[in-house]
Amino acid sequence: MCGIVGYVGDKKALIKIMTGLKSLEYRGYDSSGIAYVKDGIVKILKEEGPIRNLEEKINYNEITTIGISHTRWSTHGAANKINAHPHRQGKITLVHNGIIENYEQLKRELLNQGYCFQSNTDTEVAAAVIDSLYKKSQDMVLVLNEAVKMLTGSYAFNIINDDYPDTIFAMRKDSPLIVGIGQKENILASDIPAILHITNKYVVLDNYDIVVMQSNKLEYYNADNQKISKQINIFVGDIETISKNGYDHYMLKEINEEPEIVKRILTLYTDEGRIKIPFKLNKYASVDIVACGSASFAGQLGKFYIEKFLNIPTSVTFASEYRYQKNFFRKDKLVILISQSGETADTLAALKLAKDNGVTTLAIVNRKDSSIAREADNVIYTEAGIEVSVATTKAYLAQVIVLLLLAASGSKEEGSVLNDLKILPNIITKQINDYDYKKVSKFLYKKENIFYLGRGIDYFLAMEGSLKLKEISYIHSEAFAAGELKHGSISLIDENFGVIAVVTDKNISHKTISNLKEVAARSAKILTITNINDDSFSNYVIKIDDISDVLNPLLAIIPMQLLAYNIAKLKNCDIDKPRNLAKSVTVE
Ligand code: F6R
Repeated sequence: MCGIVGYVGDKKALIKIMTGLKSLEYRGYDSSGIAYVKDGIVKILKEEGPIRNLEEKINYNEITTIGISHTRWSTHGAANKINAHPHRQGKITLVHNGIIENYEQLKRELLNQGYCFQSNTDTEVAAAVIDSLYKKSQDMVLVLNEAVKMLTGSYAFNIINDDYPDTIFAMRKDSPLIVGIGQKENILASDIPAILHITNKYVVLDNYDIVVMQSNKLEYYNADNQKISKQINIFVGDIETISKNGYDHYMLKEINEEPEIVKRILTLYTDEGRIKIPFKLNKYASVDIVACGSASFAGQLGKFYIEKFLNIPTSVTFASEYRYQKNFFRKDKLVILISQSGETADTLAALKLAKDNGVTTLAIVNRKDSSIAREADNVIYTEAGIEVSVATTKAYLAQVIVLLLLAASGSKEEGSVLNDLKILPNIITKQINDYDYKKVSKFLYKKENIFYLGRGIDYFLAMEGSLKLKEISYIHSEAFAAGELKHGSISLIDENFGVIAVVTDKNISHKTISNLKEVAARSAKILTITNINDDSFSNYVIKIDDISDVLNPLLAIIPMQLLAYNIAKLKNCDIDKPRNLAKSVTVE
């Protein structure tokens, strides 16, 4: 949710800053802005819309060695130029990722002190808070630690103070921020892709860390104003890892990476025909899975696997609901948090709640060093690599595979699951390449409504398929348990409706098929993703292989991702950066 980049070093700072910022556009793209120091004066440029609008205003020949920049996903205040960051008050110019929850109260106090505000943002209030504190003490580290006491909420800040034109100050609480360490140049950013054009050496900041950054100096301070040292990490991989590699979109590239990711997970978490995943579920009496969006739908498959193989009662709850419901925190319960980014605010809050109640937590996370990965008692990485497309594909599949391994580990089905998983990468490759998804998509892309139907595990897949479609194609779509439709929603169905049916579970396929016949009788157009041979009720069929009841659902995911992609492409949508969304949701 918002991306920030701060840079000090080379005379061509503008290009270095903007290269970093563009790689963070997945975090928000309502507006963007930059502040840099030119001849001792802070200059600010901002534009509404995607970063390319800002780029058109930048003169890359201008010489500057220092700047801070921001790409916004708006929370407080409309997505316009005035509310775009950076914001400036007095001597302080800053960019911010996060939300200052008490900004209205602070604003009232600051108005009394004589501050005026141009924007509706919480960020401009934070700038005024820091400026007012700086008037009392000229030590920026002390000032920032005082500001921490006044600001509630979450934040990662990059700050330029007029009195220190060669320095960027930064701090964070519950919003990610890393420091990239270069040769006579340093960079601050919300995420790794933004530093890789400069360095692969980085420091992950912890909550309440403060950074003082110049081209040749990096100092870190804690909340007691004491200097601290930080561990330097090396990012393994390069810029190619996160480039499109010739694909039209990151989403397509990431879907094509799925076979390799399955292989990587198997190499890491299996050995000599056994699962070697670094956690055992069998000592727990119950499991709560907590996650948001696609991660929660992966969790639904996890529930299916855990209950099937281990007989452990498992619930799945959206993280945004978890804190507000009654939870039974017993010592023999495990709370599993699933997150690609590892920064999702609601999931992080649920993790803290479970820990505060003394319950063991296990995070299944993709991004190393993320807040959820670091705060959970145990962590298993999904190893899907950096995912850039806002709509998750490979990270979702990786979550499901890790959950499957976790559930099968130590169960009597362990051997057969592993045997089936070995052939999965090749079958996924075949599933991706053997079908003309564009052709199939043509009959759906003009629909205004598409229902996804399935029963049992197929219903959980339908949820993910439907989310994927609606978020990138803007077609209204809902997932239904196939048997539920006739209890009300079937009244919507007419000849203009599209239906995508998922039928992989042969035990209940006959029931699903009779539901689909009910829909066909009302003239809806049906596309079925299935491994069964009875497809008389469908207008179109996408066949998937028949490996096993446990693995077949994982194959159905692939056509659903590719259908969503191709439908959105036919509609000319901005596939990797759908409107109103951001990759990492660091606000509640
Ligand atoms: C949908 C999607 C989202 C995320 C959700 C959780 O394609 O990507 O629904 O799954 O926002 O994000 P993470 O996994 O980062 O916690």
